[in-house]
Amino acid sequence: MGKRIAAKITGVGGYVPPQVLTNADIAKLVDTNDQWIRERTGISERHIVEPGVATSHLATAAAQTVLEKTHTAPEEIDLIIVATVTPDMLFPATACLVQNRIGASRAWGFDLSGACSGFLYALTVGAQFIGAGTHRKALVIGADVMTSIINYEDRSTCVLFGDGAGAVLVEPADSGSDGILDFNHDIDGSGGDCLCMPAGGSLHPPSHETVDRKMHYVHQSGSQVFKYAVRRMAEVSCELLERNGFTHQDVSLVVPHQANLRIIRAMQERLGVDDSKVLVNIDRLANTTGGTIPLGLRDAESQGRLHKGDLVLLVSVGAGYTTGGMLLRWAY
Ligand SMILES: CC(C)(COP(=O)(O)OP(=O)(O)OC[C@H]1O[C@@H](n2cnc3c(N)ncnc32)[C@H](O)[C@@H]1OP(=O)(O)O)[C@@H](O)C(=O)NCCC(=O)NCCS
Repeated sequence: MGKRIAAKITGVGGYVPPQVLTNADIAKLVDTNDQWIRERTGISERHIVEPGVATSHLATAAAQTVLEKTHTAPEEIDLIIVATVTPDMLFPATACLVQNRIGASRAWGFDLSGACSGFLYALTVGAQFIGAGTHRKALVIGADVMTSIINYEDRSTCVLFGDGAGAVLVEPADSGSDGILDFNHDIDGSGGDCLCMPAGGSLHPPSHETVDRKMHYVHQSGSQVFKYAVRRMAEVSCELLERNGFTHQDVSLVVPHQANLRIIRAMQERLGVDDSKVLVNIDRLANTTGGTIPLGLRDAESQGRLHKGDLVLLVSVGAGYTTGGMLLRWAY
């Protein structure tokens, strides 16, 4: 049996900064070209921040879109969780900066580090407080400024990422059948070296040496991450469907983490769902890490692809490794 949480998403929103970095722009920085990037990743362009714009700014803007859409006053928010690996600072938490800017005077909150699965983990944690009945409204945000930790001399990573934030409002589910039906998460720390930012933490505090050695940037073994992501995203999805008595035919929409279009297509092939049931926005937004799934929900809603009663599957793999899967009966 699944792990139902009596909580539902009641609004989705997001924000990406206006400036666009195209593949042609990147080809001026490193030895790459538009065709390679599009064919190997599915990405055409990504949005990037101006200097001085940080994760909290994107997260705040994303939160405000949800508050407006759901006609929610900031004082009604009980809890704010920000999933991010690029906080403005190691402390205070980005959630505190967002809380202050939106005026959520009654809220508590914190940041959660789960890389590309961070949003699903944050949504699960936030939903537990709603399901337990101790909180009425939780704001769950996935936000990252990946450009702050990307080496624009490394062609194998710099083409992949963009900046952005998405947010959802979580409230109590009012019937036995809508909202979060189940989740299926796990971590596998043996993959930690495959995708990481080696310096800047307590192991390698920032120094001239760490900067000279470019240890404050994303390092990854692309092909290992690729294979792990395809396998685990398919496995958690199949497990989720099977243990809840569904097949791929019952799924209305899959919103996968957007790391590489080839990962998404390989995963959906294993799952047996066709393109019409899979949300893809990697072509325009690239990989925004914490932002991909809520931004995917935002885009699905604006494209009219989310309806009350739909069975929606959210799935991710990220640095750690972290794997996340969630099955929802869409509630509005
Ligand atoms: C990074 C990634 C796009 C590379 O694609 P790939 O098809 O696996 O390519 P490979 O790593 O096998 O490299 C093939 C060649 O392309 C080259 N290459 C890498 N990036 C390139 C680029 N931007 N432009 C042109 N060539 C590039 C490599 O140097 C390599 O050249 P070589 O054969 O002369 O050594 C792919 O592995 C990937 O997406 N991995 C997952 C990354 C990810 O999702 N990270 C976030 C997880 S949440």
